[in-house]
Formats: sequence, C-alpha cells, structure tokens
Amino acid sequence: MKLKAVLFDAYGTLFDVYSVALLAEQLFPGQGERLAQLWRDKQIEYTRLVSMSGRAGASGEGGSERYRPFWELTRAGLRYAALKLQLTLDAAAEERLMNQYRHLSAFPENREVLTELHRRGVPTGILSNGDPEMLGVAVRSAGFAELLNHVLSVHPVRRYKTDPAAYALGTAALGLPAREILFVSSNAWDAIGATWFGYTTLWVNRAGAPPEQLDTQPTHSGRSLREVLAHFPPAP
Ligand code: LAC
Repeated sequence: MKLKAVLFDAYGTLFDVYSVALLAEQLFPGQGERLAQLWRDKQIEYTRLVSMSGRAGASGEGGSERYRPFWELTRAGLRYAALKLQLTLDAAAEERLMNQYRHLSAFPENREVLTELHRRGVPTGILSNGDPEMLGVAVRSAGFAELLNHVLSVHPVRRYKTDPAAYALGTAALGLPAREILFVSSNAWDAIGATWFGYTTLWVNRAGAPPEQLDTQPTHSGRSLREVLAHFPPAP
C-alpha cells in the first residue's frame, strides 16, 4: 500500500508537553516534572470527561454540548495539578505556565523530518485537539508554518479525538482514504483511535511505554519521528 500523506498529532508528538517542566521547576523547585506530568494527564482526562457527559459548557458559548475548548481544559488541568501537589499557583505563575504552554519546544528531530518530507513532496498536516489559536502560535513559534500544508483543529466539529468526527477532518482535508494517510502520534491512545478510524498509523513511542492491552495495535511503532521517513522514500 502506497502512503500519500502524513498527519501529525501536535501535543506530545511535534511539541514536547513536558518541556514546561523546566519553568515549573523554577517556580516550584523539586516539583517541576511531577507538575508537568499531572497537568498533561488531567488535561486529557478533562477532554474525555466533557466528551462523555452532556453538561452545559461553562465557556459562555451555551448549549449542552460535549465540548469545551482545549485551552480552557489545559488551564483547568494546571489548576488541578497545582492543588494536588499543594502548590500555590498565583495568577502570575499561572499565566507564565500557560504562556509557556503556548510556546512549547519541538522535539529536536522534528524540523529535519518535516523539512525532508517537504523536500520529498509529501503533503503534511497537524490534526490536533488543540484549538486554532493555540495551534497557530505553537506552529509559528516552532517555525513550522512553511513546512505544513494543513493545521487542523478539532474545534470546528467540537469533538475531541478519539471521536471519529475528529479523525474525519484529516481525510476530508487531504481528500484521501484514511489507509493512504500515515497518522503519527506519540500518544498511544491517539494511535489506537486513529487505527480504529482506518488510518495507517505510526506510534512514536518516545518513552518506551508498553503497548496498550486492547485488541488493536498501531500499524507501526518506533522511537523517534525519523521513522516517518522510511515510509516515504525519496523519488528514484
Ligand atoms: C493533540 C493532543 C491531544 O491532539 O496531543 O494534539
């Protein structure tokens, strides 16, 4: 099967969500890594909580929908993580950490991989739970804007991955069947959800996590984003 395009998850895959640990460590010595980890876990848990429930959003947008923007859930996750660790998160510290989250570091190999895909003429995009504003800032501050053909947020469909409506944004934008698109994520749950949707998937298992114990595995797995290039050989 010939793959024709690549879609990347953003947070954890292109952008290192744990890079906020450095600032967190300055603000709360000895607790930076723990805060970053709890923050991330809670942020994702909150996407699932709002998605599975029908409670009216508190964002002022009304309705009893199963969605609140990722930026709000990210802030809520940070507040929870600080409370859990009994840290005093004043407004200034919260803003500094949230601002850092907007400008996350990219993993070191990513620029090289995106540049090479661009050179090989492979269409690329991001498909992320992040809302458009935060994705835009992250992509620009990493200098990736020219290297990506699409930056797709789930926001227009107001459904988080792993909802099929979220994954369908990728096939619609690229105009390709899911199996002809390599969907790349460092989040095992996202790689599994994308596999169920029908994408050919690559799980970039940077942390050496064990495989999920469900009935499905990602199509491929590896340890770095460089593995993507093996699926798109240069033209002879
Ligand atoms: C993303 C987060 C959830 O969709 O990793 O970018």
